[in-house]
Amino acid sequence: MIIEPLAGALGAEVRGVDLKAADDALWRRVREIFLEYAVLVFRDQQLEPADLMRVGARWGEPCHYPFVSGIDGFPFIFEVVKEESETVNFGGNWHSDTTYLAQPPLATLLHALETPKQGGDTLFANTYAAYDALSEGMRAIVNKLVGLNSASLKVTGGRRKMHSTIGGMKTQDMEKADEYEAEHPVVRTHPDTGRKALYLSRSHTIRFRDMTEQESRPLIDYLQAHQIRPEFTCRVRWSPGTLTVWDNRCTQHCAINDYHGQRRRMRRLTVGAETPQ
Ligand code: SIN
Repeated sequence: MIIEPLAGALGAEVRGVDLKAADDALWRRVREIFLEYAVLVFRDQQLEPADLMRVGARWGEPCHYPFVSGIDGFPFIFEVVKEESETVNFGGNWHSDTTYLAQPPLATLLHALETPKQGGDTLFANTYAAYDALSEGMRAIVNKLVGLNSASLKVTGGRRKMHSTIGGMKTQDMEKADEYEAEHPVVRTHPDTGRKALYLSRSHTIRFRDMTEQESRPLIDYLQAHQIRPEFTCRVRWSPGTLTVWDNRCTQHCAINDYHGQRRRMRRLTVGAETPQ
């Protein structure tokens, strides 16, 4: 196994691994580097949906993703497709996955099937590094905050954009978006590493507990801008067969929408529902 870091802050490309054939010793090593790099990229993985389920099971139990239907026979896997004719993409705002659920998934697996000739990369940010870089005074403030996270249509980057024109996704429960709400600490402690990470986003965090939206918004905006500073990020370029697995407990991601007129098709699976602490 060869590990090539993608950037200073997070992310690694893992070469020389066929995940379908990996034994327990290799999986133990993958787990170690997952906790170290938070975003792992495996190239040229030939994974049918059943294989993706088996690989995902190494991280945790599959999670249901609200609003969308799974592919035939695999209710937990859905396709993220942007057609040549579409201009809106899925996940085009910085976020950690489904933080409006009481138990968001610890990891997401995204497997590329069709990729544009150029463009369609995904950015990731290290939210441990963002927390560590805050001043002592600001850390003391955010340590005490609880965020209200919502799938509400009101929130920038919420369901409104995702489901208007995305191809290949059947939308369900749209009228129930406001019902998906969960409170989580703004600073969470990673259960495996013990490190603290920021856990809020402009896409999903509406306000802080015991504060109004107007009072909360400036600090949410500041922390969002802070946690995606270039030095906290890495960038994943895709090709067919690329599998990227990321740790939602200490990262945010954003799909870059710079490939209008070209098709991009991915399969996506989230695993390991966990209560943020
Ligand atoms: C997402 O999972 O939010 C989108 C990631 C991508 O399509 O690159």
